[in-house]
Amino acid sequence: MHFETKAIHAGGQPDRETGAIAPPLHLSTTFERSEDGTTPRGFSYIRDANPTQAQLEEALTALDSAAGALAFGSGMAAAASILQTVPRGGHVLLPDDCYYGVREVATGFFPQWGVTFDLVAMEDLEAVRRACRKETKLLWAESPSNPLMKIVDLAALAKIAHDAGARFVVDGTFATPALQRPIELGADAVMHSTTKYFGGHGDVQGGSIAFRERGEWMERVGHVRTIIGGVASPFNSWLVLRGIRTLAARMRVHCANARAVAEFLATQPRVEVVHYPGLKSHPGHDVAMRQMSDFGGMLSFRVKGGAAEALAVAARTKIFTRATSLGGVESLIEHRATSEGPASRTPQNLLRVSVGLEHPDDLIDDLRQALA
Ligand SMILES: Cc1ncc(COP(=O)(O)O)c(C=O)c1O
Repeated sequence: MHFETKAIHAGGQPDRETGAIAPPLHLSTTFERSEDGTTPRGFSYIRDANPTQAQLEEALTALDSAAGALAFGSGMAAAASILQTVPRGGHVLLPDDCYYGVREVATGFFPQWGVTFDLVAMEDLEAVRRACRKETKLLWAESPSNPLMKIVDLAALAKIAHDAGARFVVDGTFATPALQRPIELGADAVMHSTTKYFGGHGDVQGGSIAFRERGEWMERVGHVRTIIGGVASPFNSWLVLRGIRTLAARMRVHCANARAVAEFLATQPRVEVVHYPGLKSHPGHDVAMRQMSDFGGMLSFRVKGGAAEALAVAARTKIFTRATSLGGVESLIEHRATSEGPASRTPQNLLRVSVGLEHPDDLIDDLRQALA
């Protein structure tokens, strides 16, 4: 079945009780047990599982070509739940350009957990091979990366991780499974912040992990979720499931608009460089062509000068809104180093753009006047 069809139908059979086509929203925190104390319908308490979340997980499993999936209350709850399964004494490889929250878990919590890590430029496969140690348990990749839009070769990294006896996990938030399915390329799991394109309207927070196998590791990650409580609420699960129905269609327009904006920016004398994998000049363009069906709705660019010049360009935009986050219908522009704070590694002249679903000519006109 094609992705578009799966996105509409996965986890979406009419409600057995009522025939309703839109899924029911089950808010109950607790579920009746049978006389012998068992839970014949599989539900006992909301933090363990709930029917709306289970329906979402069915869809998440199908979208990522996975064997099973877990929904979380946020992308960070999902990421942290994976990282908490690394045993004491274990070593993790993280990309040098990765979502800053994931790096914060490593710098802030790994020392307490007895876990070590290295940041590696994962587009350099030899460097990744050299960085693997016998204690390496997890190789974490992000492609395209936030905010530099780096592309890394997911199939090659899966092989390197497995040769080293490590698991390979991909943060696929920027691409979404509409454009890239890391499990098909060898990943053991793919994580998404569903706050972004899955929800798609900037009004819900969530996270997901889809697993290549339903095994002991998926159970352990699920146990972390249950005990720490990083579950998705029923309403958030319902909103993410609703967003999934239009994911493929929205991604087409996000991609077309982002390409038009990137091509325009690349002609602008005040722009130092545009980071968009759809541009032939992008160093990861060929790898992106191989592993993505299109290049996504995110891009970043560097303004000639420093932070002041970049902030001034963002300030002059009228259609773009200055805000963090991404993947909604409206276009957002962000001075990323400011959002990330003092520990940021992002260049001071970089603006990150989430290209929305407006008409691309209006977006281009807005950027033209902002750069004038
Ligand atoms: C690439 C990436 N991964 C993970 C996250 C974290 O997701 P959340 O904000 O839903 O916790 C984000 C959020 O911006 C992100 O951009």
